[in-house]
Amino acid sequence: VSATHIEYVHASAFGNGARVAQEFASRMEARGATVSVHHVGEIDARRLPAADCYVFSSPGRFSRPIKGMRRFLKKLNLPAGTGYAILATGLQPQPDPKTGQMPSQEELGKCERVVPLMREALDAKGLVELAEDKVLVTSLKGPLEGGWQGRVEAFAARLAKEAA
Ligand SMILES: Cc1cc2nc3c(=O)[nH]c(=O)nc-3n(C[C@H](O)[C@H](O)[C@H](O)COP(=O)(O)O)c2cc1C
Repeated sequence: VSATHIEYVHASAFGNGARVAQEFASRMEARGATVSVHHVGEIDARRLPAADCYVFSSPGRFSRPIKGMRRFLKKLNLPAGTGYAILATGLQPQPDPKTGQMPSQEELGKCERVVPLMREALDAKGLVELAEDKVLVTSLKGPLEGGWQGRVEAFAARLAKEAA
């Protein structure tokens, strides 16, 4: 992926997603790519800098992307066919406080719509998905789960392969 340039837009509220962005940037830079990281609040969705592909990362809010990211994706203006990847941050599944039971994958999938809603918004604009993943925090404000850097590395590796 040398000479590949990536624009990375995140909507981190408590800093965990910002750490993930920095980790991703250093992993991609080790592959010869360049990465510019921006917070959604600092960049105009209608005038994003040119890039070979884009990464959009959002924390979850009540099973949806945070409002700043929903608004950003609605306004987003990029040429059809542009490649993108999604990286969500969200809370690790918690046991039911009464029964101590962990929710099943199916139960989680029913309510958790952060990644699907981002994908729908981007696909509706004719953009092409290259990779997606979710990195977890162990409580609302963090910290990130153990081994999170490995997850970011695997995501970077998948994107590097797809973007090559
Ligand atoms: C009001 C509120 C609602 C949340 N709802 C969800 C949710 O539905 N799903 C989820 O996985 N995480 C949820 N979270 C946890 C956030 O995803 C977590 O705070 C965030 O990923 C941390 O990243 P940040 O430090 O970059 O903001 C919620 C957090 C808050 C404060």
